[in-house]
Amino acid sequence: MAFAKISQTAYYVPEQIVTNDDLSKIMDTSDEWISSRTGIKERHISRDQDTSDLATRVAQQLLEKSASQPEDLDFIIVATISPDSMMPSTAARVQANIGASKAFTYDLTAACSGFIFALATAEKFIKSGLYQKGLVIGAEVLSKTIDWTDRRTAVLFGDGAGGVLLEAAQEEHFLAESLHSDGSRGQSLTSSQCGLASPYSDKTENHPFLAMDGRAIFDFAIRDVSKSIKTLMEEGQFSEQDLDYVLLHQANIRILDKMAKKIGIDRDKFLANMMHYGNTSAASVPILLAESVENGIIKFDGSQTLLLSGFGGGLTWGSLIVKI
Ligand code: ACO
Repeated sequence: MAFAKISQTAYYVPEQIVTNDDLSKIMDTSDEWISSRTGIKERHISRDQDTSDLATRVAQQLLEKSASQPEDLDFIIVATISPDSMMPSTAARVQANIGASKAFTYDLTAACSGFIFALATAEKFIKSGLYQKGLVIGAEVLSKTIDWTDRRTAVLFGDGAGGVLLEAAQEEHFLAESLHSDGSRGQSLTSSQCGLASPYSDKTENHPFLAMDGRAIFDFAIRDVSKSIKTLMEEGQFSEQDLDYVLLHQANIRILDKMAKKIGIDRDKFLANMMHYGNTSAASVPILLAESVENGIIKFDGSQTLLLSGFGGGLTWGSLIVKI
């Protein structure tokens, strides 16, 4: 029986930092409003790098840190809702950039749950015994999908990428999993809606920009995501003590505070960095993971157990409990 483990982590964000005060110069908002409602203080916004550029930086770091060769990789999966193009995929662009000639590649679209869904999928590839090594990356340049005249959404998001090297292992590291979708509520969070456009169709409207029913998403996170995490823990017989840290999708500090209460896990176990990055959708959990490894909170020595959880457009939500 083959098992999979996360053997390296890495993240990369564009250099340019845009603070709440910077935003208040181009729209009717304030640091006070943004900080108090979301916890976000600043975000990184790309000047000239697209999603595959950010993902490539992460891939390069993962190879360097593990002293792996690009040809060692069996697959590259990039979770994103802001690809450079639909075709070629972001993952195929990364493959070309790093020269991973043997890897199969594809993008996975599950919004802010994308990295969790991709990691769960990749783990099964390795468990199958067919593949030994691959990259799972969450990467977003959301700044190109945002209506910068809409203060209700523009202040929430940022650009960035994070990822992991996943490898075959001798023992189980992925301890529990739950993945969910509810397409019937999909309209509460939308982006890049392409209308029909052929000479043979009734043309329909384009809605390129990200749009959101903030209240509905807030309630969804508190109710559905908390419930699914509680169920996952109950069914797997994990207690609060079994978890060292919880890494939730970094949408909003108030969501995090409320979910901690609702799930019944000590708030100190919830890591947070949305204050510096905003909401980076599929990149948020892997950026938080890699940053926490870098600053020594996550030891990465096989002694800690983490709950990783994403939730967002689709609607989608999913959690993994992993030993790291
Ligand atoms: N600056 C100043 N005022 C603003 C801003 C802003 N950036 N945005 C909205 N407002 C105003 C509104 O116009 C409104 O004014 P009005 O009462 O005069 O009409 C007032 O603030 C309140 O607006 P609401 O939308 O009701 O604000 P709310 O308290 O719901 O907070 C927020 C909005 C922060 C988005 C909240 O709904 C939320 O946290 N939702 C969760 C959704 C989320 O985080 N989504 C991220 C993407 S989805 C995901 O990652 C899962």
